[in-house]
Amino acid sequence: MGKTYNIAVIPGDGTGPEVTAEAIKVLKAAEDKFGFGVELTEYDFGGERYKRTGETLPDSAVEELRKFDSILLGAIGHPDVKPGILEKGILLKARFELDQYINLRPVKLYPGVACPLKDKGPAEIDYVVVRENTGDLYTGTGGFTMKGTSNEVAVQSSVYNRFQVDRCLKYAFEYAKKYGKKARGVGKENTLALCGKTNVLTYVYDLWERAFHEMGQKEYPDIKREYYHVDATCMWMVKNPEWFDVIVTGNMFGDIITDLGAITQGGMGIAAGGNINPQGVSMFEPIGGSAPKYTGKGVINPLAAICAMQMMLQTLGEEKAADKVEEAVKYVTSEKLESMQAGKMGYSTSEVGDLVANKVAE
Ligand code: IPM
Ligand code: MN
Repeated sequence: MGKTYNIAVIPGDGTGPEVTAEAIKVLKAAEDKFGFGVELTEYDFGGERYKRTGETLPDSAVEELRKFDSILLGAIGHPDVKPGILEKGILLKARFELDQYINLRPVKLYPGVACPLKDKGPAEIDYVVVRENTGDLYTGTGGFTMKGTSNEVAVQSSVYNRFQVDRCLKYAFEYAKKYGKKARGVGKENTLALCGKTNVLTYVYDLWERAFHEMGQKEYPDIKREYYHVDATCMWMVKNPEWFDVIVTGNMFGDIITDLGAITQGGMGIAAGGNINPQGVSMFEPIGGSAPKYTGKGVINPLAAICAMQMMLQTLGEEKAADKVEEAVKYVTSEKLESMQAGKMGYSTSEVGDLVANKVAE
């Protein structure tokens, strides 16, 4: 018997519980097959609990979550709750309080998945975005003056310090060294691209750019460094996604470009991400929302949640199990599903979970 992992599960709102159940089904199949153990503890944080109790993610819960090996999250967002409350109160609070300073978002097109980009396939769409996850416009630095008057001023600042930038870059360089295209045997070089806006954000991205080249020159001379402005990044992600290997960027740009990336890999039915604290507890989530209109119908695609769980296994160090789950997902996308879209898969949510779990168990 290998290690036993204590996993906190937050199924959350909308279709979150449905997709999380399938991720757990596959996790159990991997547990049996690869001989590690999982102990699951479920938490009901989300819109329903907020409506009942007014509580989002209490400080005591943050302290509890700290003790787990990992957290698996379904979705946060409820149609009856004003936008921002649950997102800030649960998702962003967990990211900030648990210092999950990396948001890792693979942009990987699996075989059989329809891609909206002309003439692009799995060989071309195969990169990851390392999004900084604790700074930037997300810190809430700013405020209003003269609110409610015609002279009202609103300020919201992009905030970064050198420490935050350096630790994110360190993670990105290490990631490129370990999982870059050369390391994986699919390219000639391991490349790290900084996505910024040095022509306008001449303070924040100047800091990023200097830190990037300093660290690269000193510590990672074998990793090729590239720089793209964020607007150009969007263009190349559509026109020449094969140029990318590992992209590192700030929180706001990372949020935006990863939705673009997600749609090129088949959309919210398949895109997953990890909020990672390399020294602490990380949290994995499908990046699509709670999809209220599909809730309870058994039609939502659980592959994104399964892929989030797969990233969790990889981060926990269960690489073999992670590889097997990824292989099973690829089998299902290439041989089974008709579409990644809710209601169009040709299978129900739980049938898709069964297909992946059975393949893992084989
Ligand atoms: C994401 C989401 C969140 C973010 C929202 C829900 C606060 O869009 O995980 O990308 O902006 O980070
Ligand atoms: Mn987003």
